[in-house]
Amino acid sequence: MDKITTLGIEPVDEIKVFDLVGDFAGVQGSRIEDSKGHTILRACGNYDLSGPENSFVGAHAFSNFIKVTKDGKSRYFLFDVGQNRTALEHNSRVFRTLDPDFDLEKVEFILLSHGHSDHFYNLNLALEMVNPRKERQIPLYVAGDSFFTPRAKVSGERFLKSGEYLVIAPDREGAEKRGGQWIVSSRPVLLMDDTLLYLGSIRPEAKKAGIAKDYEMKPRPWPKFYECDAKGNIIDSSVEDEADEDTSIAFNLRDKGLVVITACSHGGVNTSLLYARAVSGMDKVYCYYGGFHPNSDVNATAADLLSHGIRYIIPTHCTPWGLVNLLWQKNQEAEKPFLLTKNHLAPVGNIYTFSKEYED
Ligand SMILES: [Fe+2]
Ligand SMILES: [Fe+2]
Repeated sequence: MDKITTLGIEPVDEIKVFDLVGDFAGVQGSRIEDSKGHTILRACGNYDLSGPENSFVGAHAFSNFIKVTKDGKSRYFLFDVGQNRTALEHNSRVFRTLDPDFDLEKVEFILLSHGHSDHFYNLNLALEMVNPRKERQIPLYVAGDSFFTPRAKVSGERFLKSGEYLVIAPDREGAEKRGGQWIVSSRPVLLMDDTLLYLGSIRPEAKKAGIAKDYEMKPRPWPKFYECDAKGNIIDSSVEDEADEDTSIAFNLRDKGLVVITACSHGGVNTSLLYARAVSGMDKVYCYYGGFHPNSDVNATAADLLSHGIRYIIPTHCTPWGLVNLLWQKNQEAEKPFLLTKNHLAPVGNIYTFSKEYED
């Protein structure tokens, strides 16, 4: 067993997460507030107060714009960039009209969770929006060289036989031409003056450390991704692409605990969280947000997820309905609701604020 090296995360005062690109656009414009009237969730939905012309566009993908504040100073970055051009352009325009904090030109760097197209395909566009005059270098973090491998997305065996599958690979040089600067780190690293933990390649590292949940290490039931050669031919359709480079990020919210954001959880929904706890040396989990990807045992996933004592669980993107339903049932029985549910109904157009000042 490998021993995990602990990296202490410097505390921050506030984390504001914008759901920039997400799978569905909803209709609700609502808020969830604490007892003092602080807005924890502003679900802008399709109408809000700004009119139907400012509806968000839903598209299967994931991208967050994140603002982090410490001692009165704020910094900004993107976690993933989605894959639909219209969604990224349009939703950025809408967020700009709704919240003055949203400003892509303030983005210092882009973190990419893994090499599936719904997370990286808009990268060149995102760089053009973040760095329109190409005058800056924008660090682009990926958690393993496997990120750059072309992948085939396959819906069934017959598509393999007919050759009707989609191959998508990151445009390494295109990103560099737009100021992108690739940084590969399979090991966890602290960024932004040690306030942000980028967890690196979770699945293999958690396995080596002996903290991976076995049921989360089995092949996913859906969808299937296969590695390809440079010409787009599938190398071996019996070996599923496990997205070994998949990663998550974590913050230490002052007086509250860990705030962990996962994109697709190919490292395992609970395994990724256990890894974040082990690397940070922090056991108290305040918030777990992200795509809780289906695995072989939804009941075990839900039971384990509830065992961490998480104050807020926010399922989004690829979370299966079965898991959301199990969490929803438990939420009904809970003394304090722990599920911020707007997101799985409409995982785009939401603004979450987690602050040391807010009541639990
Ligand atoms: Fe994925
Ligand atoms: Fe995804």
